[in-house]
Amino acid sequence: MPEKVLVTREIPDAGLRLLRDFDVTVVSESPPGRGELLEAVHGAAGILPTVTEKMDAEVMDAAGDGLKVIANMAVGYDNVDLDAAGERDVVVTNTPEVLNETTADTAFMLLLAAARRLGEAERLLRSGGWDAWGPMQLTGPDVWGKKLGVVGFGRIGQAVARRARGFDMEILYHDQYRNESAEKETGVQYAELDELLRTCDFISVHTPLTDETHHLIGARELERMKPEAVLINTSRGPVVDEAALADALSEERIFAAGLDVYEKEPEVHPKLLELENVVLAPHIGSASVETRDRMAVLAAENIVAVLSGDEPKTPVNG
Ligand code: GLV
Repeated sequence: MPEKVLVTREIPDAGLRLLRDFDVTVVSESPPGRGELLEAVHGAAGILPTVTEKMDAEVMDAAGDGLKVIANMAVGYDNVDLDAAGERDVVVTNTPEVLNETTADTAFMLLLAAARRLGEAERLLRSGGWDAWGPMQLTGPDVWGKKLGVVGFGRIGQAVARRARGFDMEILYHDQYRNESAEKETGVQYAELDELLRTCDFISVHTPLTDETHHLIGARELERMKPEAVLINTSRGPVVDEAALADALSEERIFAAGLDVYEKEPEVHPKLLELENVVLAPHIGSASVETRDRMAVLAAENIVAVLSGDEPKTPVNG
């Protein structure tokens, strides 16, 4: 009997094809309800979830003793309880590397759109409110030649810095680890968070969500930013205090923000929805056709490896 693999959402065929030797159940196109998930997972040896499903002890116990692997189709894995997985000898994997460049593109897209007021401009045009070219109309700060602060200098943060070099930007980074080889090779400079916040025109957040990074950017940090500052978040919503950000934007204490992630997805703080100076994307950081294929393939390869008794390709525990 082939082992059961539960795929929680519809994923690209490139990934599903690799699972053809298993008994695969795909739960649904939209995020499954908790009850539906707990029922569907029964007897699974492998689970391929996405960021919309919480993988906690209850789900693992509902799967049963045969559960061997949870292959998250995401680089972030804050939706998976690693302690619960460890206690049950369940391997957890993620999809690093394959989405670095695409997510960095998304961060830069939001950065440009927020600075140059693209969302506001498009809303004006579509509403029929654009009557003529205007010398003062919809102006925003230049991006090229400005100072970028990258908070979290991992693979995606570094890919954003590479893009910024093409815009002749000066680049500071803050991370728990110094990256001296990147400093030498690319001229990026390390800064303490406060200095980065005080001096940068653009601040892009690329940390994972952990207990330490929860509300890393809150009221205190927003107060330190310049009035011209633009904040970009493509990491995880709870890294930024959304209510504090909404206040700073509505009081024009910073110039703008570009967000791809939210504290309680798919909810967005209602105040943000009313504001012109924030560009809001629905968690599409890795949403290119090629990257979603690569993520599905890597997640499926991790399932195949573990269920075949091989080493997982990209484990995050054990
Ligand atoms: C998406 O948010 C991811 O972590 O890959």
